Amino acid sequence: MTVLTYNPNVFNISSIADARAIILTPEDDLTTDERWKLETPYLLELMEANYTFHENTVVLDYGAGIGRLAKELIKKYNCKVIGVDISPNMRSLGNYHVSSDNYVSCHPHMLQHLNVKVDYVIAVWVLQHCLAPKDDINQIYRCMKSDAQIFVVNNKNRVVPVTEEGYWADDGINLQSLLNNTFNNTFIGKLDQKIVSNAVSRGSFYGIWAKNKNPDRSEEEIVSVSDADIPVSTLSS
Ligand SMILES: C[S@@+](CC[C@H](N)C(=O)[O-])C[C@H]1O[C@@H](n2cnc3c(N)ncnc32)[C@H](O)[C@@H]1O
Repeated sequence: MTVLTYNPNVFNISSIADARAIILTPEDDLTTDERWKLETPYLLELMEANYTFHENTVVLDYGAGIGRLAKELIKKYNCKVIGVDISPNMRSLGNYHVSSDNYVSCHPHMLQHLNVKVDYVIAVWVLQHCLAPKDDINQIYRCMKSDAQIFVVNNKNRVVPVTEEGYWADDGINLQSLLNNTFNNTFIGKLDQKIVSNAVSRGSFYGIWAKNKNPDRSEEEIVSVSDADIPVSTLSS
């Protein structure tokens, strides 16, 4: 079994331009800027189709990057957004990019200490990159109100940043199974290829999960479900 070294530093970029370039890589004939312009309002539309945002809505944007989606949600609804990201530079640039009193950014570890309960969670292009996604999903689960939903956009394959093998690794963990083990899936679909490009549509999925999987199961029981998939390689941090 190959042992690879997890390298989250790839996300520790030093400018807005570098952040945008790693958040939305060029795909097919779409540049980073074109993807940003087309995909951002489209993802908002997908969220709005199943959820009514208002000024008292508290959103957790998990893996917020520089707050691409948070900024638009706040602009449109005056809602409140907690942007969580492992990268200190993404967090700093996010505060600048979103530039709103309704936005706060923090490291994932801070979440458990803040003791917040949110109405809605966004996890866009992030779970594919997490070293131990079950831990991230559990963390998200604990911060959700009982009627909260999570909106996920993700690559079908895992894309874990590593120091070896061309910098990204697929450890074989199945994100959809992990989400289904924890939450109640209410929708799963493909992003529109006319908007996001063929390559992105083919290689990804989006879905909505509700927290209330089974009221008879305790929170502790749900978050302790073991990962259904065995990684094909070992990743060390
Ligand atoms: C591809 S970007 C997506 C940013 C944002 N969701 C968007 O769509 O504009 C992935 C982001 O997830 C963050 N990230 C990676 N692993 C994470 C983790 N375990 N917890 C929180 N954030 C993470 C990265 O630092 C990066 O900012």
